[in-house]
Amino acid sequence: MNMKNKLQVVPVLGLQWGDEGKGKFIDFLVKTKSKKEKLLVARFQGGSNAGHSIFFEDKQIVFHIVPSGILEKNTHNLIGAGVNIDVVSLKKEINEIKSFTPWWHKNLFVSREANIVVPTAKLIEGVEKNRRGFGNIGTTGKGIGPTYSDFYGRTDDLAVYEIEDEKVFKKRYQEIKNSHLKTLSGKYEAKVDEKKLLEAEKIFFDGVKFLRTLNIVSCHNFLTNARNKGRQIIAEGGQGTLLDVRFGTRFDVTSSHTTSAGVCAGLGLPPSTIGNTLGVFKAYATRVGNGPMPTEIGGKESFKWASIKKRKDEENLNYDINDTNSLRQGIAIRAIGKEYGATTGRLRRVAWLDLPLMKYAIALNGITHLGITKIDILDDLKKIPVCVSYKNSTYIDMNKLDKMTPFYKTFPGWKKSTRGCTSYKDLPKEAKTYLKFIEKELSIPIAFISTGPKREEMIVMKKF
Ligand code: IMO
Ligand code: MG
Repeated sequence: MNMKNKLQVVPVLGLQWGDEGKGKFIDFLVKTKSKKEKLLVARFQGGSNAGHSIFFEDKQIVFHIVPSGILEKNTHNLIGAGVNIDVVSLKKEINEIKSFTPWWHKNLFVSREANIVVPTAKLIEGVEKNRRGFGNIGTTGKGIGPTYSDFYGRTDDLAVYEIEDEKVFKKRYQEIKNSHLKTLSGKYEAKVDEKKLLEAEKIFFDGVKFLRTLNIVSCHNFLTNARNKGRQIIAEGGQGTLLDVRFGTRFDVTSSHTTSAGVCAGLGLPPSTIGNTLGVFKAYATRVGNGPMPTEIGGKESFKWASIKKRKDEENLNYDINDTNSLRQGIAIRAIGKEYGATTGRLRRVAWLDLPLMKYAIALNGITHLGITKIDILDDLKKIPVCVSYKNSTYIDMNKLDKMTPFYKTFPGWKKSTRGCTSYKDLPKEAKTYLKFIEKELSIPIAFISTGPKREEMIVMKKF
């Protein structure tokens, strides 16, 4: 966020499969910049499938749909046009924070063009999941896919502006519900539990009422005015680049564009407004749900384990992070890194850092700065493998990823604590070697090194 880019839009995007720590960086940027600059954090895609964990005064807060700038009193927040809003989740999130964010209402804006997830969209996602013969995506079940299908198919989508008038809303909702019920009974031959649907509708209507009390704005116009008045926009990504609906690992993707192009499409901003772009990644990688991940620690065995086991099954295992059995080593890293889904509680699959995929993600997004998280999780490792290339492959074809063989370079571990370190010079020399190698391979500067979940556990390397 230097002077040259003062009014450029600054995207913060995930370079892997989500859960990279985007929320922490947004919270950090907002906290450190908001004293001098007027800021606005805008979500541009996805919905409550995202789970952004932030540590605030020793409490862990998980945002799904509320932008991560809400914790700072002078920062505006927008749920942009490209987002699918789960009104129930929105109300719940606000209830959890409103006692210590008295400014929340004044600072939260919602795009009239955004879509609303209706209860029957979640039912459709549930039965679609069971129908798919070619494998289960492992969706978070938040109704995001069906809601985008309805929107892009120009059929049964409900826009925020359609709830403003109660009569219009009632009519529109009934049309959508009838159509969804026909799809459920016809196409899917599914039986709908009416009692459960009534219950879901009750809290949905309550959420719609809540949404009506918020500041509803026209996305493009609102953001253009904000820029003209000197507000710096931070675009908050949900999910990660490798889950992008087109350039991710089809079909195991989310239903939206998670890249910097998605920022423009989701917020109604021209590409020329995009400035510095922060690419966030973990010192290793994780993935929740299905889909190829060539550097998965423990390979297929770990994948199978993560799809059938629950967090409680692993609680007392206490495996060693240096275990020579890679299934057990993966379980140890998951436990130390607390790699359990913030939205669904599922086990996240863990993998070694994959530089070819990172290069692909950097190029797709036009990343200018990097932010690495969770280096402290690797503290006790004796050896750290990093994928540097794939056998017989000069470029990434995401639809052949499951057939790729990774080549690794192995680094010596640092075997010292980096937790909470705030100065680069205090990092162990092996950690510096690891970071320098990543930076050189990716040809992009590392601007931030996160050394723990708390806001202050951060090394700032470069102005952003
Ligand atoms: P944040 O913003 C990690 C994954 C799901 C599934 C696939 C499709 O916290 O990084 P969907 O619910 O979109 O139909 O699921 O995408 N997925 C995520 N994985 N972090 C997320 O969000 C995710 N949002 C969706 O696990 O594999
Ligand atoms: Mg998450």
